[in-house]
Order: sequence, then structure tokens, then C-alpha cells
Amino acid sequence: MRKKLFFIAVTVLTVQACFAQTPVSLIIDGSNPKTIISRHIYGHFSEHLGRCIYDGYWVTDSMNVPKKDRIRLDIVEALKKIKVPNLRWPGGCFADEYHWRDGIGPRNQRPHMVNTNWGGVSEDNSFGTHEFLELCELIGCEPYIAGNVGSGTVEEMAKWVEYLNSDAQSTMTEIRKQNGRDKPWRVKFWGVGNESWGCGGNMTADFYADQYKRYATYARNYHDAPLYRIASGANSSDYNWTDVLMKNAGTRMWGLTLHHYTLPTGNWGRKGSATSFDEKEYFNTMRNCLIMEELVTRHSTIMDKYDPAKRVALVVDEWGVWTEVEPGTNPGFLYQQNSLRDALVAGTTLNIFNNHCERVRMANLAQTINVLQALVLTRGNQMLLTPTYHVFDLYKVHQDAKWLPVNFNSPDYVIEDRKIPAVNISASQDTATGAVHISFVNLDPNKKISFRSNLIGIKWQTVTGQILTSKKLTDVNSFENPNNVRITPFTGARKEGNELIVDLPPQSVVVLELKYVPN
Ligand code: AHR
Repeated sequence: MRKKLFFIAVTVLTVQACFAQTPVSLIIDGSNPKTIISRHIYGHFSEHLGRCIYDGYWVTDSMNVPKKDRIRLDIVEALKKIKVPNLRWPGGCFADEYHWRDGIGPRNQRPHMVNTNWGGVSEDNSFGTHEFLELCELIGCEPYIAGNVGSGTVEEMAKWVEYLNSDAQSTMTEIRKQNGRDKPWRVKFWGVGNESWGCGGNMTADFYADQYKRYATYARNYHDAPLYRIASGANSSDYNWTDVLMKNAGTRMWGLTLHHYTLPTGNWGRKGSATSFDEKEYFNTMRNCLIMEELVTRHSTIMDKYDPAKRVALVVDEWGVWTEVEPGTNPGFLYQQNSLRDALVAGTTLNIFNNHCERVRMANLAQTINVLQALVLTRGNQMLLTPTYHVFDLYKVHQDAKWLPVNFNSPDYVIEDRKIPAVNISASQDTATGAVHISFVNLDPNKKISFRSNLIGIKWQTVTGQILTSKKLTDVNSFENPNNVRITPFTGARKEGNELIVDLPPQSVVVLELKYVPN
């Protein structure tokens, strides 16, 4: 009997040894960090679409939630916690049909319009310029306003900037004062149109470049309020658009945008469900998400041709997962649930942006509340934080930190005859405390992956970590079970000599903190 047990034990150990993975070697270079990961990479986007603004941030007087005016303060608190650095508004496609003067003055006198882009619903303009800027002040973030090029005029945009940013006496600034705001807001980030190749006017790149110059010229810099003008950029892999804009107007912009959405199926006609998908569709989603690496690299290479000093920022001001809407909801409202899969997309995309921080200096996830890859979902006076929210919570440590290059060969995540890199990583060093933060995403739902890391030029003594994972990729936070997918402490990292050893569980996002405490 003893012999038999011994034989079984030896066999088990031998089988384990055969399948045990050799740790992947990871190098993190902290010897000469120079580039800062702009906090604006962690920006968000809130459009007049579905229940993002109305019945999202902005609720009825009678709703039983903490409010300032009609702004929900439970949402504000949640956004403050993840340090939202900027908020893009009012669109999206909505921006190119929005006439800002309809959204100022006494609310009961504001004109109503039809939101032709999003469900054909009535827009009462009760949430306008003052309300948006109040929201930004409450969150403590910078406003990023998209002006109307598609159906507006140069004068309309010029006057909006004057209304917001001038402290001189003029008719515009007098109206602002009558509406309750004495001092200018000094809004910095200014989008000149949105998707001008599509819903923003169906223009050619050459035509838009000329329009951009007209609008951008008269959107003036006022006293102490220099504008960061942002041109409407390419749709995914439209490299010609970036080339034409950089060639014709590159010297006149602070940033140029890029929009790219991750569709589970890659097919706009049948995008796939947010909650019901198999491993094959999961694999496709992650493969489509990883296209961001190629997009950012190739758009940056074109920008380098005209702007080798990297003065112009690549602003990825719309990104995220786009699925079918939740069954039974208005198709024009783009309401979708958010699963562990979305969290893995968010972690991966943010790692890509961090690792391209020399050029990518701003980005905005679409869209904050109740729309597309949302951070927050609401039902009446209830609210929940999605798995994607928790990734932004984990990654906030990278905001304005010094970027540290990482080097490793990722194992493959293989399905049938196709493969993608299983792991992506980014790292940074806090400028104030010197702590090092490393964010890992293991996309592989079936394999643990171990790392043995050499940290060049980094003094550290302790490692702690946090993890976001769940049993199933389809797991979500629901109103019945709002903490189903949540952050928990991570114990799979340790120090061995000078090396950092990490055992990364399948389908997980992990952020480590390495600290040095001098005696
Ligand atoms: O985010 C939803 C829509 O997607 C935006 O309004 C538009 O810019 C893009 O096509």
C-alpha cells in the first residue's frame, strides 16, 4: 500500500513538473525615466445620449438621492475617487448638432430639440454649459468641450469660447454674468468638431483641414486662457486622414484625435452581446482590442513625419467596447452591461496608452454612465460600479507618474489555430513617493502565468498588490449583486533576493506597488 501511495505521489509531481511553466523573464527599466504618463489618458466622455446625462448625472428634483441642483452626488463621489482628470462633452455626434445658446439662461425658457442621433427623443436643454461646468467643478476635473463644426458656424464657436473664457466686458460676458457666473471658467481643452468624416459632416480630410483652420483661428486665446485646440481625427485605421491633417494643419493644433471601438464580433451589423458570449467570441474581442497597439503605433509614425518633436498629442477621445444593447432597452440609447471581459479590455487598452505616453497624452473612454463601456450604471436611485470602473480605480496610480519601459516575451493565448499575446504590462514610478506600480493583464482564461523580474535602477523592499478577477468572463455587477466583480488583495507576488516573482492568475488584472522604506 505504502509503495502504491509513493508511486502515485511521484507520478503526480512528475506530471505537475512537466506542465509547470518556466517563469517569463520581465525587465523593468527604472534607470532613467523621463516621460510622464499624462493623467489625461484616464479621461472620460459623456454625451447627450441615452441615460448618460439625463437620468444619469442629471436627475429629476424629486429623485431621492443626494444632489446639488439636479446633479447626483453619489456619482460625483464615485468619479472623484478614481481621479477623473477630464470629461468630454456634449458629444460625440450630438456635438455637431448642439447649439450652445439653447443651453443657457432660465431653464423653463430654453428651446427643446430632437436628439436626431440618439433615439429621436426630446432634449429640453436643461443640462447646458453652466450645468456641465458645475459638474466638472464638483468632480474636480478639467472640461473638454467639443464645438459644433458640422451644423454650426465659426461665429457660434467663437462666441462660445468668448462666453467661457473672456474676462473683458462684452455682450457675451455680460450674458454669462446675468446667468450667474462672474469669472470666466478658462476652459482649456477645445475640440473642433467630432468625427468630421462621418456624423460630423461627412467631409473629406482636405475639406476638414481647411474648416479646422477657419474655426480654430477664431476660437481665440483670452487672457490667461490659452486654448488647447484639438482637431477631429481618424476613424480607426484611416491613416490618410492623419497624414492630411498633420500636413495641412499640424502646426495649428494641440492634439489630433483617433476613435476606435472594440466590437466583439468585429461586425457592426451583429456586434455581439455584452453578457452572453463563448470563449471564441471572447478571444475575438481581445484580438480586436489589441488592434489599438497597431493603430496608435501607425498613427504616431505618421505624426512623427511632420512633428518629430512630438508636440502634437494623439488624443484617443473615443474608445471602448461596443456591443448590442441590453434586451428590451431603446436601441438608440446604447445601454450595455459590463463584464469581466470589459475590465480586461480596459486594462489592456490603458497599458497600451501608458506605453505610448510620449505621443498619447489624452484619451476618453466612451461613455461614463449607462452608455457603452460605462463606469457607472443606474436604475432609479440605485447605482453600481462596473468592473471597468474598478480598473480605473486600480490604474489611477499611473496618472502623472514617470513611465518605466518594460521588456518581456509574452506567452501566447491560443485558440484553435489563432493566437494573441496572453499578457500585457505597463509600469510607472510615482514622482512624489518613488513607489513603483506595475499593471499586468493576463487575458488567458485558462492559464496562470509566472514572471521573474529584474528591476533595473529600482530600490525596493516591499511588494503589495490588488487584483480584479472573477470565476467567469461573463460575470457582471448587477443591481441585485453589485459587488460580484470587485478588487481584492493580491498575494501572488514576492521578493526573492533582488527579483520580483509574480504568479498571475488567469483572466485577471493585477496592480503591484513596490516600495522602499529607508531606515
Ligand atoms: O460614442 C457613441 C458615438 O460613437 C459618438 O457619438 C460618435 O462620435 C461615435 O461614432
